Amino acid sequence: MADKPRLTTTAGAPVPSNQFSQTAGPRGPILLQDYQLIEKLAHQNRERIPERVVHAKGWGALGTFKVTHDITQYTCAKVFRPGTKTEVLSRWSTVAGESGAADVERDVRGFSLKFYTEDGNWDMVGNNTPIFFVRDAYKFPDFIRTQKRHPKTNLRSPEAMFDFWAAQPESVHQVTILMSDRGIPTNPMHMNGYGSHTFSLWNEKGERYWVKFHFKTQQGHAHYTNAEAEKIIGSTRESYQEDLYNAIEAGDFPKWTLYIQVMNEEDAGKQDFNPFDLTKVWPHGDFPLIEVGELEMNRNPENYFQIVENAAFSPSNVVPGIGYSPDKMLQARVFSYADAHRYRLGTHYEMLPANAPRAAAVNHYHKDGSMRFFSNDFGNPNAYYEPNQYDGPVADESAKEPPLRIDGDADRYVQASEDADFVQPRKLFEMFSDEQKQRLFANYAGAMGPCSQEVKERWYAVLERVHPDYAAGVRKANETMDSDVNAVPITDDTETEAAE
Ligand code: HEM
Repeated sequence: MADKPRLTTTAGAPVPSNQFSQTAGPRGPILLQDYQLIEKLAHQNRERIPERVVHAKGWGALGTFKVTHDITQYTCAKVFRPGTKTEVLSRWSTVAGESGAADVERDVRGFSLKFYTEDGNWDMVGNNTPIFFVRDAYKFPDFIRTQKRHPKTNLRSPEAMFDFWAAQPESVHQVTILMSDRGIPTNPMHMNGYGSHTFSLWNEKGERYWVKFHFKTQQGHAHYTNAEAEKIIGSTRESYQEDLYNAIEAGDFPKWTLYIQVMNEEDAGKQDFNPFDLTKVWPHGDFPLIEVGELEMNRNPENYFQIVENAAFSPSNVVPGIGYSPDKMLQARVFSYADAHRYRLGTHYEMLPANAPRAAAVNHYHKDGSMRFFSNDFGNPNAYYEPNQYDGPVADESAKEPPLRIDGDADRYVQASEDADFVQPRKLFEMFSDEQKQRLFANYAGAMGPCSQEVKERWYAVLERVHPDYAAGVRKANETMDSDVNAVPITDDTETEAAE
């Protein structure tokens, strides 16, 4: 044992053996008093926490965000002061697969960032796509159900996926991206990240702007065909973790440039689309990208579980100068994530090292419960209620968001015309090269093959409204199942603005 640390119980007492059970005689049964054995087995039974209900498979890293351009005319957020450097935790993920899923499956990728700012943590919990499948939170649990396993077969069900999408034509924009080359990025370094929703910024003068966040990869886009992905999965299911971990260990740090799109508050009502509809992008011609700063991920966490599995990203984590918008999906997410964290991690999950603010003091009046790691009311034992006479923490009115005018009758609104849902996917489809279209069709064939003819016909009807060539191409690919075309290598990983 000489210079090795002494093995102890969790209570700090020395452990006499970690190899041989205490038994009644050399061949006898174990004694209940061998508490160390009991504790060891009990701890093993508690090593897993519930996996995330979505985005269960993920890869993470630590790094820095640096502001390179001045956007203080739009926001007073300290994280955006020119020259500011902020520590960041990232986690990228697939949506549907369980925590052991293969990394290069065709899926949307999550792109989560936690900025440990001076004003507390700001989380951007986005995807590698600028839009989403549905625009109302009522539809989210059902959508996810179609992505997970069938209750009887316990298998993923293409029939359920396309049955659902065919009934939600607004999903065709996102499904087009999913079935395109962008459906399988080679690893997280070669994909963009988007806040996806419309958020808000406000400046010192209290003027509000609507904003979209775009993190553009500096490594360039790179994607696998189905055939390439199948080959990789045949040799390793963990290719993202390997690529990311090894790149960072080798000092080859991935970087992204942050851009924003900005819309004046009063212009939101003047667009021919709803700027708060998560199934739509903002045209870059009207809302050009404005450069903000650089994100560099440069550190592997010392312990994956402690930092990446315990990470609790939530759209509810905003800081003064950055706010929400009327996007109803975003509104629902503001509730849903912290609720998930209380269940998945425990009451005071914000005290875990991954989630605790690193650059801001924490003072709140939420008290007991699991994981109460903090002591008496942050050094002030009498200030455990508010208001109090003991100089306990008080609210800071300067953090208040500017007032937002909201009017209209409370009702459940269906979008008046679905036609607008097909305009942007049409533009995207028309931008694809012939080879990109061939791969799109073939990817559909791979995904839809097992679907019933009825569901296929319903989906063709949706595609027909996007573009007749789109419907015809997918139909033909499904009928011929020409999987060879899938092997056309991806040589044209160009940016497709309509998909940005
Ligand atoms: C994870 C709910 C839409 C991106 C999660 C989790 C929940 C959830 C409960 C698991 C959280 C955890 O256990 O830590 C919802 C609901 C949505 C919605 C209710 C719609 C109403 C979206 C959208 C995006 C998104 C539109 C992207 C734009 C993510 C990401 C994660 C995630 C990236 C993984 C976070 C991480 O890395 O830990 N979502 N989600 N979700 N969601 Fe959503």
